[in-house]
Amino acid sequence: MTTNNPIIDIMQTRHSVRQYDGQPIDRTELNRLLTTAFLAPTALNQQPIRALVIDSPEVRQQLTAATGNTSQLTTSAAVVLFVNDLENRDEAKPFQPAQRPAPTSHQAIGALDVGLVAMQFMLLAKDAGYDTNPMTGFDAAMFNQILNLDPRRYQPLLLVSVGQAAKAGKLAEHKPLSQLVDYR
Ligand SMILES: Cc1cc2nc3c(=O)[nH]c(=O)nc-3n(C[C@H](O)[C@H](O)[C@H](O)COP(=O)(O)O)c2cc1C
Repeated sequence: MTTNNPIIDIMQTRHSVRQYDGQPIDRTELNRLLTTAFLAPTALNQQPIRALVIDSPEVRQQLTAATGNTSQLTTSAAVVLFVNDLENRDEAKPFQPAQRPAPTSHQAIGALDVGLVAMQFMLLAKDAGYDTNPMTGFDAAMFNQILNLDPRRYQPLLLVSVGQAAKAGKLAEHKPLSQLVDYR
């Protein structure tokens, strides 16, 4: 069902895809999508989220040891690991340790910020003809180790596969609005 409204059409046709055709996506194209995705709002405009694009088939194969989501890793064009930068440095300014938010609030806010960036990325990817699958089903500590990320600084939050679908996604079951929305 199309509505002639591009935003609504993209939202209605984005479904998680777990099998891709293995074709690569140009890094320029991925950067184009990520540039716009990172326009997402963040708390206090701190922009704590970083994206690690893993398009190397060898590295993705290594990562399969740390997740059950293997088809997404091995058949996609790339997976994007969105991490929370716990130091949350503004590279333009010298880092002041006193400005660092309490770790728990930093982690909770990062988890909110990542959802907005990742959602924009998935919708932009759909608009460009690609499909995606967001994933939290991976071992973050093992990912840090394999990817050589300092666990004191980087907290892996969300992995998103991207590529051309080999097996189309389908509309998931959704609860009725009456169960989801209330008014006061
Ligand atoms: C935070 C989050 C974590 C998810 N983790 C996984 C995952 O580890 N593996 C997977 O196959 N799908 C994962 N999904 C995808 C959901 O299963 C999927 O979004 C949901 O079933 C609705 O389907 P749709 O994306 O096609 O609308 C995750 C989705 C979200 C939002």
